[in-house]
Amino acid sequence: MAHLFSPIKIKNKEIKNRIVMPPMVYFGCAGDDGFVTEKHVRHYEARAKGGTGLIVVEAACVTRDGRLSSDQLGIWSDDHIKGLEQLVRVCHNYGATVLIQIHHAGLKTPRNVAEVAFAPSQHSDDTDRPVRELTIEEIKAIQNDFIKAAQRAQEAGFDGIEFHGAHGYLISQFASPITNRRTDQYGGSLENRMRFVVEIIQQLKDMVDEDFIIGYRMGGNEPTLENGIQIAKILEAAGVDLLHVSSGISSPDYPQPEVPEGFPENSIVYCGTQIKSRVNIPVIVVNGIRTPQQAEYLIENNLADMVAVGRGLLVDPDWADKAKHGSQIVPCQQCKRCLWYTDPNKCPAIN
Ligand SMILES: Cc1cc2nc3c(=O)[nH]c(=O)nc-3n(C[C@H](O)[C@H](O)[C@H](O)COP(=O)(O)O)c2cc1C
Repeated sequence: MAHLFSPIKIKNKEIKNRIVMPPMVYFGCAGDDGFVTEKHVRHYEARAKGGTGLIVVEAACVTRDGRLSSDQLGIWSDDHIKGLEQLVRVCHNYGATVLIQIHHAGLKTPRNVAEVAFAPSQHSDDTDRPVRELTIEEIKAIQNDFIKAAQRAQEAGFDGIEFHGAHGYLISQFASPITNRRTDQYGGSLENRMRFVVEIIQQLKDMVDEDFIIGYRMGGNEPTLENGIQIAKILEAAGVDLLHVSSGISSPDYPQPEVPEGFPENSIVYCGTQIKSRVNIPVIVVNGIRTPQQAEYLIENNLADMVAVGRGLLVDPDWADKAKHGSQIVPCQQCKRCLWYTDPNKCPAIN
């Protein structure tokens, strides 16, 4: 496991190994106010104590009416900073580097959060709540919400932030031609569709400390791998320091990237490795990586700079240390839909 346990430097920060805890909402933990709870603190402390090199704290919403659920962590107010500081402290205590993912759900905002969901374009989905196209003024306001959220993250002591630009949430909705049908400067060409987030990044870079890491979680298939590669290059040019490649918005109109024969992982990881080979900034790959051997292979063969282990770290907080010492890791049982989305107490791997 020599490669997996080699340090990596991002900006001025040395991360002690290549293992990443990807952002995962700890459902049922925060209340409607979005404050950090004692349960959150213990959750992240355990993964830091277990040797994880980089922890990306779960999606925290930049505005109350853009949450993905009514129990999502918040970073929309200065009042959140105090609780967030505790997460940073426990992670740093055990030598982990820690970012926080900043997020807006856009058209995925449920009715119990907002009567109307906002999106780049008018959209009809299978829910009964209306979706409204954002005006330019509203776009500017949400951009400002992201900037303020990142500043709060810095104030709380985080080593950086990660934009949630994947999984069909607001930033991904702007980037994707499937959901962005605007005809102004925020729609049309890929450059225009990326303008929403590029403007945020450019402003942010002038405001935060020089060694504050600006990470970005993107869809490798947004909606194609070719588009994903272009997105990664735009982000690199805009000054993003770290890419985390997950999935974007898929549609039957766009063929999914095919994994070449012999490639040992799924298409999401494949997209990550392809993007890694096209940019000069570090890339995290994720999805379905469960064993230290899988992770070591990806780093050793220079297919990725870092490897995220999501559900694996939910079921075994000591995943990293056990990988280092060759001890038995508690295996995720890969339920059809992870029970941590509804009730972690029902996770069969740990109950
Ligand atoms: C309960 C749960 C919550 C999640 N929350 C987030 C999130 O807040 N932000 C995000 O980008 N991805 C989220 N994800 C996706 C994970 O970060 C990860 O990409 C996914 O679990 C696949 O990786 P794995 O196979 O290693 O688990 C979540 C996944 C789970 C299981």
